[in-house]
This record gives sequence, C-alpha cells and structure tokens, in this order.
Amino acid sequence: MRKSAAAVRDQHMKTRAGGQPEAKALARPPEIRAVFLVGFMGAGKTSVGRALSRRLGWDFEDLDDRIQAREQRTIEEIFERSGEAYFRRAEHEALRELIVGLSSSPRVIALGGGAFAQAHNARLLAEGGFLTIFLDAPIEELFRRCQQEPVERPLRRDLQQFRELNEQRRPSYLKAALRIETSGKDIEMVAAEAARCLGFEEKNATPGAP
Ligand code: S3P
Repeated sequence: MRKSAAAVRDQHMKTRAGGQPEAKALARPPEIRAVFLVGFMGAGKTSVGRALSRRLGWDFEDLDDRIQAREQRTIEEIFERSGEAYFRRAEHEALRELIVGLSSSPRVIALGGGAFAQAHNARLLAEGGFLTIFLDAPIEELFRRCQQEPVERPLRRDLQQFRELNEQRRPSYLKAALRIETSGKDIEMVAAEAARCLGFEEKNATPGAP
C-alpha cells in the first residue's frame, strides 16, 4: 500500500530514510533547507536539479563541481592520478563542507552517482534531516544517456560493468525518501514532478496551501 503524504513527510522529518515510497506530493512543504538528488550515472541529477531549482527559485549546486573546485582538477584527473579511494575522501569532505555552509536559503543539490551509496554520506544526510530524491531509470536508458553526453565518466565502461555497479548501489538509492521514475520523461517533466512531490504548486512554484 502506498504511504500517505503525511507519512512521507513524517518519515523525512524523523530523518530516517528507510522506505521507498513512489513519488507523491507532500501535503504541505516541510521546512526544507536542502533537497539532494541521488541516483546512478545518467539519472539526470544535474539537469533535473537545475530545472527544479529554477522552478523553486532556489540555488543549485552540483557536488562534483565543488570537488573539482577544491581539487583544482577534473573528476577524470582525480580518478586517473589519485584513484577512486582518494576521490571518495574528497567527495565526503566536500559534502561535509557543503552541509556546514548551508544557509537559510534552500538549495537543490545534485550528488555524484556514488556519493549516496557511501554509508557515511547517507548518514550525514539522514542526520541533517535533508530530503533525498532518487531519480530512477532502467539501466539501458542510463547507459544510453551517458553515451550521449560529452562528459567522461571514469566508472562507466561497458554495459555489463555498468549494470553490476548499479545493482550493487541500488539498495542504497532505494533508501532515499522519495523515488521518481524518469524513464520516457523529459527534464522539465521530472522537475515538475519533483516540485509537486515537495508540495509546491506547479503553476508558479510557490508553496501549496498553508
Ligand atoms: C560517479 C559518478 C559521477 C562522478 C564520478 C563518480 C560514480 O557523477 O561523481 O565520476 O561513482 O557513479 P555523475 O553521477 O553525475 O555522473
């Protein structure tokens, strides 16, 4: 049975991201300081995040951009020269820094595909009571979307390896408070759905009934 909107909100407010309700509007927006978009490579976290932040009039940040700025090199270079373990430490530090620096103005944040699959990162978000949204899609579609982008992804090799990595991580993604199926939808459709899930009216992206 699907959870009620109040149950979804309560789950978020309790900061325990234990379930996986299908996307459904919150009855009214809780006090949201930040929304984190999670999911595998190609899920559309950055593009949907930008579109969602425009709709809500919130700031947007991509955690990978913060990592690159801190490191003064690209994600690809970090993987190549310092390895994945180093990247994960840098990712964790960047996430901590981002959370500490959050102000009263709410923000939409796109995480890199591996960030939420690291237990200590998921714990940080749960402890902070932040809302997490899992952008989901079939693996073939995720792979195809990545192929169409000019971005080099060190952890995307062939479809088989891509599928296996996703299967390892999927249980973590499913711990997000909300899940949106993105297959066959364009960026604006997904962003509109996310805004509705957060309890915002679609028309002018202002909070719903008080
Ligand atoms: C990674 C995904 C990438 C980036 C890095 C590692 C991963 O972000 O953080 O290449 O482990 O899945 P995107 O999901 O935005 O491609």
